[in-house]
Amino acid sequence: MICMFRRLAFCLAFCLSLLAPSARAQQATLLVDIDHRAQISLDGPWHYIPDPYREGWGSNPDRANPRGYAANAHYVPGGPLVQYDFSRSPTLNVPGDWNSQDKSLFYYEGLLWYQRDFSVHPKPHTHLFIHFGAANYAASVFVDGQHVCDHEGGFTPFDCEVTSVVKDGDNFVVAAVDDTRTVDRVPTLRTDWWNYGGLTRSVALVEVPDTYIDDESLQLKKGTQDQIEGYVHVVGADAGARIALSIPDLHIEKEATTDTNGHAEFAVSASDLELWSPEHPRLYKVSFTAGPDHLTDDIGFRSVEVQGDQILLNGKPVFLRGISYHDEAPVRSGRSWSERDAQTLLSWAQELHCNFVRMAHYPHTENEYRLADKLGLMVWSEIPVYWGIDWTNPHTLDVAKHQLWEMIRRDHNHPSVILWSMSNETPESPERDAFIHQLAVEARKEDPTRLITSAIVTHFRGTTATLDDPLGQDLDVLGYNEYLGWYQGSAADIPNYTWQNPLGKPVIVSEFGAGAKAGLHGPDTEKFTEEYQDYVFRQQFQMLGKMPFLRGMTPWVLMDFRSPMRQLPGVQDDYNRKGLVSDKGEKKKAFFTLQDYYAKMQR
Ligand code: GCU
Repeated sequence: MICMFRRLAFCLAFCLSLLAPSARAQQATLLVDIDHRAQISLDGPWHYIPDPYREGWGSNPDRANPRGYAANAHYVPGGPLVQYDFSRSPTLNVPGDWNSQDKSLFYYEGLLWYQRDFSVHPKPHTHLFIHFGAANYAASVFVDGQHVCDHEGGFTPFDCEVTSVVKDGDNFVVAAVDDTRTVDRVPTLRTDWWNYGGLTRSVALVEVPDTYIDDESLQLKKGTQDQIEGYVHVVGADAGARIALSIPDLHIEKEATTDTNGHAEFAVSASDLELWSPEHPRLYKVSFTAGPDHLTDDIGFRSVEVQGDQILLNGKPVFLRGISYHDEAPVRSGRSWSERDAQTLLSWAQELHCNFVRMAHYPHTENEYRLADKLGLMVWSEIPVYWGIDWTNPHTLDVAKHQLWEMIRRDHNHPSVILWSMSNETPESPERDAFIHQLAVEARKEDPTRLITSAIVTHFRGTTATLDDPLGQDLDVLGYNEYLGWYQGSAADIPNYTWQNPLGKPVIVSEFGAGAKAGLHGPDTEKFTEEYQDYVFRQQFQMLGKMPFLRGMTPWVLMDFRSPMRQLPGVQDDYNRKGLVSDKGEKKKAFFTLQDYYAKMQR
């Protein structure tokens, strides 16, 4: 009876959620392939004011008081009372989180205001956007004191249209960024990673013509090796507008026309097409021209599908030799954002002989996807539906859907991305199933060309795991996390564990591992020694090697990362130590054991 009322209440809540203006509806557009557009960078020092009491925001929780800090007033001795002044305030570098830049902000969670001046001379018949690579967690943006946009979600980009607000010449932008953890947010209250706040990725002004391309996609047609299909969406185009596609290396010059929604479809044959793969990460220069707007992209063509319990890349079975990692900067710590950060992290993955990486637990910086395209590393990309989320809250579902939409929108042209992950280690319940079901439906609608997965907690009955979590019904590939030899059981027993796969789908063991303090040596029975971590890996390989349906693994984790859950002094010191490389770049014993294992597998 109670269960029936819970379901009814839940369905009612869902119906109501469809009425609320979705986060998506509130966003003008999201410009794809932004790093191939001309930009005026707004990176560099921004003034900041931490505002734990929300003094500058005012009493309305949903909307900042425009006469608050958004107004960017200045204190003039003898003048009217002003109790803040950005121009007199310290600065933080953008991109960058605030926690690792200023010791006094290391533990700070809450509202923090950013401000900088900028000068621009908009051309006639253009649109001007401020593009944010990411702002953790919620942001409200004001230009010259006027509210221009809001965004929720700490790891995906957003564009604020400022065409009607900016002046020719000097302007200022104020961004209120709030990373308070709350029940209804995604992620929510507890995460095993540091809640780095701020404008964590690049910010830039982007000018586009009156009619402009905001989305384009080109992929290999499923089940073919030589058919390319895709679309372009042009904002402001009339029906019948001509769009040109050019792929010089394939001698393809093709035209299409827009429909009433500014949408144009392409389908072309491509003889001599070189498919993208880890062994041959071939990218093609592709360009689209829509009237005054022109956009290029580097696209690779490959197909990925499931056949029974096999994953097929370009029609051939593939094993995913992977590693999981957080988007944290090697050595200097804090959120990763630079080319160099990406290069360091992915070159370690290559050194391990990986052909696959799991970008945990949220969309990483786009330059890592670009680099993965070039290096031939396949990618598992995930939204932070992590542990217990507020499943029955319509706003939470809306935010999760919107992060999913933004992730797919930003990254759907990266051949490296083969898997969209809906969630990580979510506790079983009908509400959870229904929530993630909706996400899977959304993902398939937005991108029917890639595989859908999630990372699920493995439950062992005795020494047997039966991979029958109901979530599996919605997934193409099952990701299962297990910590035998660390949180569960002894390392010595690991090879005795067995797995059943009743759904008969491909399985990736998306997490396993053990903690080790780099340089701490001792018996392989003592936790936190390098020898213990190494022993767990060797034992895991014995067990995993006996799983006939295993199609990949992404051990936890490439590099030690900051976490407020890891407090053991002298060993953890705010770091999860399950890395194969320490936060200072020291390779641990198990790094070489995994490297060896993958090298043998590769032969
Ligand atoms: C979990 C979780 C990770 C976490 C890891 C750990 O499985 O998915 O985010 O860091 O376990 O406990 O180290």
